[in-house]
Amino acid sequence: MSIHCQLLILILALTLDVQVHTGEVIGGREAVAHSRPYMVLLERRMPSGKIKRCGGFLLNEDFVMTAAHCLACSYTVLLGVHNVHSSNGIQRISVVQTFPNKDYNKTDLSNDIMLLKLSSKAKFSTNVQPIALAGQGDGSLPKSCIVSGWGRTDKDIKHMSVVLMEANVTIIDSKECKKEKSYCSKGETGPDKGDSGGPLVCEDGKAYGVVSSGYLSKYFYAKIPDYRSWIDLIVN
Ligand SMILES: *[C@@H]1O[C@H](CO)[C@@H](O)[C@H](O)[C@H]1NC(C)=O
Ligand SMILES: *[C@@H]1O[C@H](CO)[C@@H](O)[C@H](O)[C@H]1NC(C)=O
Repeated sequence: MSIHCQLLILILALTLDVQVHTGEVIGGREAVAHSRPYMVLLERRMPSGKIKRCGGFLLNEDFVMTAAHCLACSYTVLLGVHNVHSSNGIQRISVVQTFPNKDYNKTDLSNDIMLLKLSSKAKFSTNVQPIALAGQGDGSLPKSCIVSGWGRTDKDIKHMSVVLMEANVTIIDSKECKKEKSYCSKGETGPDKGDSGGPLVCEDGKAYGVVSSGYLSKYFYAKIPDYRSWIDLIVN
C-alpha cells in the first residue's frame, strides 16, 4: 500500500467524522427487490484492509458513477444486489481506472463526483440495467426525488442495511441550503452513512444527483446537469 493512499484515506476519515454524515437512508423503506437495477453496491478496500461501502449507479456497460469522497485503494462493484447476504445472480467486477472530478475539494466536499471504469463489461439483465442521466437542459429544479442505498437506517445504529432502502426527498432552493453545482434537500428523511455515491432519481426516472454529504438535516447532491460535458468526455 502506498503512503500516498494511506494519507489520503486518513484525511477522508477525519473529514467524515468531524464534518459530515453520509451514506445511510434515514426514515426510508425497503425498496421492491431489483426495482432499481442501476444500483451499485461499491465495496472499497481501505489501507487498513477494512472493507467499507458506498453506493453508486451504472451508466453503461463500462462505467459507474459515485462520489469522489468514496475514493479508496481498490474497489469491487457489485451489480444485481438487493439483499447483501445473497450472492445469487450478483456480478462482481473490479475497477481499472478512477476519474475523481479534478475540482473535488475534500474540505467542503464540492465537486464530489467520480467515475469508475470497470475491468470487464457489465452484463445487462432484468436486475442489471443502466440509468439515464439528466442532461444540461434538465437543469430546472426537480422536486420529488428518491434516494436509495444500503447505508445506515437509523442514526443510532452502527450497522449498514442488509437490503436496499429508499426514501423520498424534496429538493429545495432556499438561501440556507445553497451550494454551487449542487442540489439540496432538507428534512427528517434522507441519505446517511453508506449511501454516499448513490443516485438522486427524480420524476422522469433520470439520475439528477449524486449523494454527497449531509449535516443537520440538510443533504447535498452533486448536480449532474452541471457535469454533463465532463461526464460525456470520459464515458464516450
Ligand atoms: C477547498 O474548500 C475550502 C473551504 O471552502 C477552501 O478554503 C479552499 O480554498 C478550497 N481548496 C481549493 C483547492 O479550492
Ligand atoms: C414517494 O414518491 C412517490 C413518487 O415519486 C409517490 O408515489 C409516493 O407516494 C411517495 N411516498 C411517500 C411516503 O411520500
